[in-house]
Amino acid sequence: MDIKDFETFANKIKVRNIENEDVEVVNYSPLVMMGKGRQGAVFQYSDDICIKVFGNEEDCEREHYALSLGQHTDLFPKVYAKGPLFIAMEIIKGVDLREYLQSQPLTEELSLKLIDLLITFKEIGYERIDHHKRQIFILPEGNLKVIDVARTVWRDRVYPYPRKLLTSLGKENKETFLSHVQALHPELYSEWTHFIEMEEQARQICQKIMNESTDKGKLKDKSKKLLTTNDETVYSNQLESLVHKVFKEEWVKAMLVKGYDPDKVMDIIDEHIEKKMMQENKILQEKKMMQEKKMTQDKASKGNREQDSVQTKEVDKNKNNKKDRYPDKEDFYRSRGNDRIFQSGGFYGVRNERYREFPIKEKDDNGNNYGRKGKKYRR
Ligand SMILES: Nc1ncnc2c1ncn2[C@@H]1O[C@H](COP(=O)(O)OP(=O)(O)OP(=O)(O)O)[C@@H](O)[C@H]1O
Ligand SMILES: [Mg+2]
Repeated sequence: MDIKDFETFANKIKVRNIENEDVEVVNYSPLVMMGKGRQGAVFQYSDDICIKVFGNEEDCEREHYALSLGQHTDLFPKVYAKGPLFIAMEIIKGVDLREYLQSQPLTEELSLKLIDLLITFKEIGYERIDHHKRQIFILPEGNLKVIDVARTVWRDRVYPYPRKLLTSLGKENKETFLSHVQALHPELYSEWTHFIEMEEQARQICQKIMNESTDKGKLKDKSKKLLTTNDETVYSNQLESLVHKVFKEEWVKAMLVKGYDPDKVMDIIDEHIEKKMMQENKILQEKKMMQEKKMTQDKASKGNREQDSVQTKEVDKNKNNKKDRYPDKEDFYRSRGNDRIFQSGGFYGVRNERYREFPIKEKDDNGNNYGRKGKKYRR
């Protein structure tokens, strides 16, 4: 047996990879082809030796590496020689599992041999502890051997259970095999069935997401409901509330740095905003009233209505009177008057000295207290 012989034959066989199909073969050698797949074609060299000719060097390298890892076991064909595009190896004489199971039952003994095979895969360092049933052969003596092992190494996508083997066994034999695993090692059985269930759930989620995304057109139409700018009142209310929110957040941040209690700062800001809104409402009401007066000349009745409206607002304001909740602020209001702090002109320009006297400062200076988020802070 000379490597030159193998080379001579292999050089006369041209194998070309075709995407998602078995290789294309042009054979100028006298060797007879035994079979082919997507990576290569196998030719009988002698009674016991075959030559697998590959379509590319990487596949050849990979399969040779995987075979070399298992040469000390009796699971793999013996390797006799290797070239850049071929491997000369032992012919496996037996019947593959796919064929075998067409007429024979999957006995517990056979299942245990399969588990043993997976253990060997793990022990020799295969990344994929899995194999398709058509690549597993049962020899006349009853032992198993495997061919076509390239895909067991250099993988980045592996499965935590023998997915390919189980799927290839078919529904009935898969259940039989799993029942044998359960009897042998309940924990291993639970682990595998857990992964099978998780896989099924992932598949269902995926299908759901994919189906939903086909309703994009409908969703686009429905999305109109989220628009606010086409309703003047809704738009202006929401814009106002957005600006207020930003305003409050920025103030609370600034005051937190100085060590003030954010809840109280928020209350005072709320109060200020409420007051401003009251004033604006009042102005609006007055404008309205003036217009109505002009139009109807009914001064007395309009004046009364305006009075009612202002009274209603007063009642609303009292409902949310923050002074009741923080009586300790009373001194502050008394001594300086509410307006002095929150006059619209002075509000932004308040200097540090003024805040040093601010009675809401109850905590120690804590410059990095941004993380405090009381329920009010989330408003
Ligand atoms: N050592 C061997 N002994 C006997 N028959 C073999 C051997 N190696 C391969 N064969 C036969 O050649 C066929 C093709 O070989 P193999 O499955 O290794 O090709 P492949 O291109 O790597 O396949 P795949 O597309 O699944 O990767 C096999 O199905 C088998 O029938
Ligand atoms: Mg292969």
